[in-house]
Amino acid sequence: MKDSVFQPGHPWLDTEGQAIQAHGGGIMVHEGRYWWYGENKAAPSYKNERVTGWDCRRHDLVGVSAYSSDDLLNWRNEGIVLGPVSDDPDHDLHPSKVMERPKVNFNPRTGQFVMHFHVDRHDYSLAAVGVATSDRPAGPFRFRGTLRPNGADSRDLTVFVDDDGSAWLVHSSEWNRTLYISRLSEDWLFTTGEYYRVFAGQSREAPALFRHRGLYHLITSGCTGWDPNPAEHAFAEHLAGPWTLTGNPCRGPGAETTFGAQSTFVLPLPGQPDACLFMADIWNKDD
Ligand code: DGJ
Repeated sequence: MKDSVFQPGHPWLDTEGQAIQAHGGGIMVHEGRYWWYGENKAAPSYKNERVTGWDCRRHDLVGVSAYSSDDLLNWRNEGIVLGPVSDDPDHDLHPSKVMERPKVNFNPRTGQFVMHFHVDRHDYSLAAVGVATSDRPAGPFRFRGTLRPNGADSRDLTVFVDDDGSAWLVHSSEWNRTLYISRLSEDWLFTTGEYYRVFAGQSREAPALFRHRGLYHLITSGCTGWDPNPAEHAFAEHLAGPWTLTGNPCRGPGAETTFGAQSTFVLPLPGQPDACLFMADIWNKDD
């Protein structure tokens, strides 16, 4: 039976009745079908006792899951499209590592689906970007490697594809103090040396960048680990800025903590010029 509503803050079940595992994710529209990629967190959470300076909570790396849908409500599990590499403790995708915020986009120049994600050591000290590609939206994706964009550190990220086909990696850098918007190469596998520093020194993460009626819009969170904080919205005529801050875009009960959640993606809805879908995660650092 098809669902007609979903309830924010409650487990959202897939078409098999299992909780959707697609956290920190993003939605791609391809040939009239929606594809939702996100972190699979089906592993026990624990405090990383090897880290003493901050409250590092983690789970072993499970992989990136994909779901597909034709109505954004009923999602079919397409499985884990990029999984861990268990037999090599040094591999960036070993279960002991971190894999967060995957975003997938189709590159018409290469005919490849390209996935970018935050890849890290158990203590978040690597701060790099993982890249994987596939010929099909349902994967499997092939891991192409890890990069530090233009040599910079990179933690929370998203990817924005502009109307002119250029692709931009939006990532928290400088130890999360400054957000970078870095142009990707034509095949989207590398950075190019062109980048903009925005919100310098303002410690923003969880970026969601989209375009609406000729303006760029950027929603970010503050840096409070797994705990929620107020979102912030900014707009600009150019990616390089200047960016104008407008404050917290949320309204109603819970707005002051982004409804207990943290931004991950905004999908401008096809065929609905003024409708955008805002996606955010309600994290539970204990589970
Ligand atoms: C907040 C980030 O937005 C999450 O993706 C994750 O990296 C946690 N911090 C880790 O504490």
